[in-house]
Amino acid sequence: MTVDPKIEQLNDYRARSRQGGGEDRIQRQHDRGKMIARERLDLLLDPGSFRELDAFVVQRERNFGMDEPENQILGDSVVTGWGTINGRLVYVYSQDFTVFGGSLSQVHAAKIVKIMEMAMKTGAPLIGLNDSGGARIQEGVVSLGGYADIFLRNTLASGVIPQISAIMGPCAGGAVYSPALTDFIFMVKGTSHMFVTGPDVVKTVTHEDVTFEELGGAMTHNETSGVAHMAAESEADCFALIREMLTYLPQNNLEDAPFEAATDDPLRMDMRLDNIIPDNPNKPYDIKEVIRLIVDEGHFYETHEHFAKNVVVGFARLGGYSVGIVANQPQVLAGVLDISASEKAARFVRFCDCFNIPIITFEDVPGFLPGVGQEHGGIIRHGAKLLYAYCEATVPKITVITRKAYGGAYCVMNSKHIRSDLNLAWPTAEIAVMGPDGAVNIIFREVLNGAEDPVVAKAELVEDYRERFANPYVAASRGYVDDVIEPHETRPRLINALEVLRNKRDSNPPKKHGNIPL
Ligand code: HXC
Repeated sequence: MTVDPKIEQLNDYRARSRQGGGEDRIQRQHDRGKMIARERLDLLLDPGSFRELDAFVVQRERNFGMDEPENQILGDSVVTGWGTINGRLVYVYSQDFTVFGGSLSQVHAAKIVKIMEMAMKTGAPLIGLNDSGGARIQEGVVSLGGYADIFLRNTLASGVIPQISAIMGPCAGGAVYSPALTDFIFMVKGTSHMFVTGPDVVKTVTHEDVTFEELGGAMTHNETSGVAHMAAESEADCFALIREMLTYLPQNNLEDAPFEAATDDPLRMDMRLDNIIPDNPNKPYDIKEVIRLIVDEGHFYETHEHFAKNVVVGFARLGGYSVGIVANQPQVLAGVLDISASEKAARFVRFCDCFNIPIITFEDVPGFLPGVGQEHGGIIRHGAKLLYAYCEATVPKITVITRKAYGGAYCVMNSKHIRSDLNLAWPTAEIAVMGPDGAVNIIFREVLNGAEDPVVAKAELVEDYRERFANPYVAASRGYVDDVIEPHETRPRLINALEVLRNKRDSNPPKKHGNIPL
């Protein structure tokens, strides 16, 4: 049977487009333990669901020999289109490092912009797989303009559709700023790097010797800078993590996150919770254990795990409803709020509020971290971000005070006063301006100075203060705490509250936008 020459031409074009930068460069990518752009999409998306756009686009630069036939690579340096994940529509781009190092040309930018606009119009998440040497050097300002076109769309899409970035290789220069504007950044240990300027430029400008890994590796950005939210063990692990994250998210800001009927009994009570708070209020416990004992199937999808570990954030399900969890972690810095923790939690609260995901707050916080470093670093400004984020959030907001709720941190951590819908406290809750020790030192300074035995006197005063204030009942008597519950009741009480709050409607005054203290 003869093949129609027109079909033959089409097949030939498609094959050339799939070939990217050619066998040698594909091999080099594989030798480095990295997949090529299309292999990644095959793993990320449901099998057979990918539909590619713009496979025949070619770059338009004519200088520096770019008009030579070997530089007219069909599709240029990015693969774009849509597909499904768990049957739900997503838009994707995957940069092809085998073509000019995945660098961003004008047409590369235009391909991404095209799917970004479709994603916004049709209300579906955007996932970018980034592997790029940054601006296409041969194209100069045209490439810079292409980046700016993408940054604008990232910003316009923010809060409209979830935007996820995965860093799959070197991402230099402009290649880091689009991810930085998106909601979550995933990195792969060992093979992905992000920096504004690489080690060579750093050496020239600041004379610092630093490796790729130290400057911008996965753990650097997950642990130290907080730029990235997830550190995957491998590319395949990264895609599995992205697929799972999407199960907690709605398609866009007008929808609710998918409900998944729970196999875990909504009325289940876990008696281990009753003994989880140590008798000594200064002893730590693991708030993640508390979370696991309460949520469906004990499964907590933690984000930003390695950064500012004194606060824990992530997604889970309660009675099948997707929830965002924010929790102080008494195991790290006694769960205190510092600059990094405030920023981490604030960004997460705002994400949940954008996308109609109820926020459950587990509170055990001794206050904001004192110190010159924190004050000079702007803890006032950064702490205010968390306060602002909770204040402006209109999604269902529920707080469980497990132990300490002291000082400004009491107000910040979704207190009743800032529009929390339901505040529950365990009998172990201590709610006051400050802990007994500090309080006695200040308000009984004179008494202590004049006491025969200041140590005994202080111990008595501390005990008296603890009895009077270090409990949930002063707050409950004012209605600042809606109910005091036994810890084992927490799961059914939270699920009941989520059902009650399902049709919650609240809004902020009309305005162009607020001015969060950045
Ligand atoms: C054009 C590029 C390129 C670029 C890499 N290539 N970066 N082509 N523009 N920006 C090409 C190389 O010439 C090479 O082509 C192929 O991609 C692979 O690159 P290698 O250097 O061989 O790979 P590797 O050793 O892995 O190093 C990867 C790299 C390095 C770390 C990304 O290539 C690099 O440092 N590139 C430049 C990064 C950079 O400074 N970009 C500009 C940033 S400024 P062949 O033909 O040999 O395969 C910027 C401004 C935007 O982005 C600002 C907006 C806010």
